[in-house]
Amino acid sequence: MSAQNITVIGLQWGDEGKGKIVDLLARNCRYVVRYCGGANAGHTVTVAGERYPLHLIPSGILHKGVHNIVANGVAFDPVIALKEIDTLRERGVTINAENLSISSSANVVMPYHKLADRLSEQSLGSGKIGTTALGIGPCYSDKAVRTLAIRVADLLAPETLKEKIARIVEIKSKIFKSVFGYDEPIDAEGIWWEYCDYGKRLSEMITDTGAILRSAWQKGERICFEGGQGSMLDIDHGTFPYVTSSSVTACGVPAGAGVPPKAVGRVIGVIKAYTSRVGAGPFPTEQDNQIGQYLREHGKEYGTTTGRPRRCGWFDAVAVKYAADLSCVDELALTLLDVLGGLETIKICTEYRFDDDKAVQHLSIPMRMPSAKCVYEELPGWDERIEDVRSFSDLPANARAYVQRIEELIGKPVGLISIGPQREQVIKHNTGLDDIVV
Ligand code: GDP
Ligand code: IMO
Ligand code: MG
Repeated sequence: MSAQNITVIGLQWGDEGKGKIVDLLARNCRYVVRYCGGANAGHTVTVAGERYPLHLIPSGILHKGVHNIVANGVAFDPVIALKEIDTLRERGVTINAENLSISSSANVVMPYHKLADRLSEQSLGSGKIGTTALGIGPCYSDKAVRTLAIRVADLLAPETLKEKIARIVEIKSKIFKSVFGYDEPIDAEGIWWEYCDYGKRLSEMITDTGAILRSAWQKGERICFEGGQGSMLDIDHGTFPYVTSSSVTACGVPAGAGVPPKAVGRVIGVIKAYTSRVGAGPFPTEQDNQIGQYLREHGKEYGTTTGRPRRCGWFDAVAVKYAADLSCVDELALTLLDVLGGLETIKICTEYRFDDDKAVQHLSIPMRMPSAKCVYEELPGWDERIEDVRSFSDLPANARAYVQRIEELIGKPVGLISIGPQREQVIKHNTGLDDIVV
């Protein structure tokens, strides 16, 4: 029988702890695949007290025998990828063409994409999105334009690359000057040299990753698809325009990895026990007060990629239910439950209310958020330390009740409960992954 594939996605605004969950599951997977986003992702894996922040390299990289794939749907930044590879190698992690492949059809983040990201954000002033400034949006927008895109395969064809960069830089320079008044010269020749060199350094790893994955699937080898960002940041289904620029839900897996929709497998929706968000945009349960401060300090809620303090608030069951339904999640992985310890009461938003119901009837949940007023349910907190607990029955009664209430509200079982950043800090609960999480 074929091994069941797994798709791990975030159901909030990112940073739900996807990296930790993927690392946990990766041991029994043959492939771990990034299919969306780019270096805007910051996935943390912590093993034996060592913290590994990963941006482009999939979170299966610490396991021997796992083939990590950066698939076609990723906005691939060779500068950041090579830096990450070097840093991991310095820390003793083996990385070679046997355990890391990069799609030849992924789109490349170029220096002028990062410049465009910064110029655009600056020009928006207080209306800015609050992007990671890593050129993600401009890279995907050039992908959509098609004639302005550079793909990873181009890095291996110097002559074509030279012609493309020269033509694109000429166009970009005109746009930057007329739109943003930016008239510093952009060195097309310098960029060409630099990116040819990246192509040489990565050449062994560049391949048709879709073909590898389809063949693996047919052979029944288990694949884990690793989502970036979170469902509420999805380009189509999130809090537009305060979103990222790719399809980050389970719906993005087939297109972003080059596999048939049936290959998605069991979908694990990762949720924090509360909510965080980096950057601008609606956040109905935000607590811009002492509660938010408490969550930020206890949860160390500072961006893995940018170091920015994350906005924090209560768990939003309305948003999570929407995201869980969107990707037809099979089970939830609840993370950072330990962070709630010490609070007298914990709130969950169970419903949105509006001053004028008629005015929002035609809008999706994310589009309703700016005018939503949260209805909260209060649950009693707990003071006990839960970081060393390894079975559900050993959790304080109030922590168990909190988990059970989330299961009821979302209508999905909580399979795994994470109670600390370390790999072993996990409780198996109502999971269908018994044979995978050991
Ligand atoms: P990702 O982007 O979804 O992979 O999440 P991030 O790595 O950006 O953010 C999650 C942060 O929480 C990281 O620093 C993790 O090491 C940490 N973390 C993950 N699970 C837990 C947990 O259960 N408890 C605590 N205290 N920290 C956790
Ligand atoms: P992981 O995978 C949290 C946010 C940015 C910004 C918006 C658009 O670690 O969960 P972009 O640079 O993508 O154009 O920024 O999306 N954002 C994230 N927030 N976690 C992430 O990734 C994010 N990736 C993008 O903060 O609000
Ligand atoms: Mg992150």
